[in-house]
Amino acid sequence: MPTFIDEHFMDNDSLNAFKNLVNKDSQSHISTKEVFFNQAQQKLYCILDAHSEQSIRDYHEKFGLKCKSIMPIQQVTFGVPDESEKLQVIGELAARLAHDLRNPLSVIKNVVEIMETKQRLRIEEKIICYGRLHRAINRISHQIDEVLDFVRPTKLTIEENLLNEIISSAIEKIAKPDDIVINLPNNFVYVQCDFIKFEVMITNLIINAIQAMNNSGQVDIVLSDDGKFATLQVIDRGSGIPKDVMPKIFEPLFTTKQIGTGLGLASCKAIVEQHKGIIHVSSSVGKGTTFTIQIPKSHAAAQEPQASNKASQPQIASIK
Ligand SMILES: Nc1ncnc2c1ncn2[C@@H]1O[C@H](COP(=O)(O)OP(=O)(O)O)[C@@H](O)[C@H]1O
Ligand SMILES: [Mg+2]
Repeated sequence: MPTFIDEHFMDNDSLNAFKNLVNKDSQSHISTKEVFFNQAQQKLYCILDAHSEQSIRDYHEKFGLKCKSIMPIQQVTFGVPDESEKLQVIGELAARLAHDLRNPLSVIKNVVEIMETKQRLRIEEKIICYGRLHRAINRISHQIDEVLDFVRPTKLTIEENLLNEIISSAIEKIAKPDDIVINLPNNFVYVQCDFIKFEVMITNLIINAIQAMNNSGQVDIVLSDDGKFATLQVIDRGSGIPKDVMPKIFEPLFTTKQIGTGLGLASCKAIVEQHKGIIHVSSSVGKGTTFTIQIPKSHAAAQEPQASNKASQPQIASIK
């Protein structure tokens, strides 16, 4: 039998009709599976099995029920992944992480072997070896951080922060290739946010920009403030994002890279949403990509209806 959802106004007449129904009806062709009462809207929703929409209407008429609408439903899903789906995601994540860690680990192994066999290294050789170790270790810790940031979302610690300070701190954490120039903003913008989470988000965006430019070129970081919203832009002149890739970039585990967790932008999106902000991307293949993040200046203001309306807009991805 097909399944339907029917919606009723819950005025006194309907309520009485329902009570009668519960007392009297025992041999109907309609079987009610679930009943939900929405107090705020004074409405009642029934999920039921019936032969047809008409048989529900006849039934309503028979018992004097006032019905607002009847809708057939194919299936009701509640969005909770079952255990096997969860295990699959964890399995994929573990495999991706293991794969990503292997490269920097083999760099560390090689460098340590060189240092062991060549006991007396010249100062220049030492600098090269330590540089390689440093970059490999940074990469490992970034990969681990990305996974942890994603799987363990923590509560926000909101404070008034200078965005410029967070940007500088993020850049310090990145092993910036020598051929990359990061142009910093020369205006100062404050926002109420969680310092650590913003640092993670900015680090992810800058690393993506650097990777999109094949480790050489300029990244611009632009800040602005209109009193209500603080805006941060990370602009690169890299490969750009193809049209077919664009809708997937915020999905967890989606990556087009050989070495990539596919968690960076999913984390960024979660962080922006936690701050009641919006994230927007525009891109042109072969020319570059701009990520724009808008955050309400005051986290408390973000709870107010007007601000949260704006903030609850979905992220928009556009192609230039
Ligand atoms: N600045 C960018 N330029 C071009 N493509 C990008 C950029 N940022 C993200 N992408 C695309 O979005 C995908 C997902 O990014 P992300 O979630 O950070 O995962 P990862 O960097 O591990 O692949 C990337 O694999 C890439 O295809
Ligand atoms: Mg990334």
